[in-house]
Amino acid sequence: MKKSEAASRILRGKKLSADLGQCAEAFAPANIALCKYWGKRDQTLNLPVTSSLSVSLGQKGTLTKLTVTANPVDTVMLNHQPVDPSSDFLRRISTFLDDLLSADRCHFHVDTHSGIPVAAGLASSASGFAALTMALERLYEWQLSATELSILARLGSGSACRSLWQGFVEWQAGSRADGMDSFAVPLAASWPALCIGLSIVSGEGKHISSREAMQRTVETSPFYAAWPLKVAKDLQLVKTALETQDFSLLGRTAESNALAMHATMMSAWPPVVYAQPETIETIKKVWHLRDEGLPVYFTEDAGPNIKLLFLKKNSPIILKYFPGAEIVCPAV
Ligand code: PMV
Repeated sequence: MKKSEAASRILRGKKLSADLGQCAEAFAPANIALCKYWGKRDQTLNLPVTSSLSVSLGQKGTLTKLTVTANPVDTVMLNHQPVDPSSDFLRRISTFLDDLLSADRCHFHVDTHSGIPVAAGLASSASGFAALTMALERLYEWQLSATELSILARLGSGSACRSLWQGFVEWQAGSRADGMDSFAVPLAASWPALCIGLSIVSGEGKHISSREAMQRTVETSPFYAAWPLKVAKDLQLVKTALETQDFSLLGRTAESNALAMHATMMSAWPPVVYAQPETIETIKKVWHLRDEGLPVYFTEDAGPNIKLLFLKKNSPIILKYFPGAEIVCPAV
C-alpha cells in the first residue's frame, strides 16, 4: 500500500485546502527509546517488526511553523538558515506533505527550529515529523484523535509516532497490512527523578540513514531472528521497572537492549557501526563509574552519541565526569 492511500484512510472527507498566508505552529519533543525499534515489516508504511518504548525529552524537540505561500515549491528554514532545495531534508518534508495532502496541494514555507543536532541519532526526525503533523492538523482543523495523528506521523518517520506525547510512550507494532493498528500510546507511568544526559560525541550527520541500516540488518544479519525475542522480554522488563520504580532494572534493560541492537547491525553485511572512538570511551567510562558504585547506564541510537540514564540526585557527579553533557529530566 502507498503512503498516500494509508493517509487518505484517516483524512478522507477532511479539508485539504488552505488560504494564502494561513499559518499554524506546533512543538513536539524528541524521544529516546529505552526498548528500540529496529527493523520494518513494511518499508513504505514504516510498520515495525516489534513494539518499542520511549521517553520524551520535555522541552528538547522541534518547533515548526507552516505558512501557506504562493510559491510553486516548499521552502524550508532550519534554525534560521535556508535549507538547500535539493537536500534530502527538504525532499523528505515535501514528499510527506504530498503523501498527506496530495501532489496538487498548496505549498508552504516551513520554519523549523530544532534543539538537537539533526540526523545524529538524537531523534530529530521523530520530533520533526511529529511537529509537522501537529502543525498540519492545526492549520486544517482536522480534529483528529491522538491515535490518528500518531499514524500520520509514523508515515514520516517511524519513531515520530512516539513524539506526540511527553513522558513514557509505547509504540504498539500492530499486525494489519494497512498499519491502522500501528500507533503509539502514552503510558501512565511517571518518574520525576529519572534524568537523561545527552553526551554529544559528534553533531555531524550520519553516514548511513537508520532506514537503510535497519533494512540491511533485517536482510543480512544472522542475529536478527533473535531481536524480536529480545524486545519482547525487554519491553516487559522496562514496564516492570517503571511500575516498581526499579532504576537498576530500567538501566540494565535499556543498555542491554541498545547493545543488542548495535550487535545486529555490526553483524549485518556490509557492517554498520555508528560508534566513534569517543563513543566507546564514553561507554567505558560509564562501566567504570558503575563498577565504582555509581548507578549510571547508557543507551545509543543510530549515531555516535551516548544518552546517559541516571537519577536526579546524581546529576552533580554525572556533570563532574561528563562535563559536556546536557541534562534533561523529562518524565514528570
Ligand atoms: O524512526 P527512525 O527511522 O529514525 O528510526 C529510529 C531508530 C532508533 O532511533 C535507532 C530506535 C528508536 O526506537 O528510536
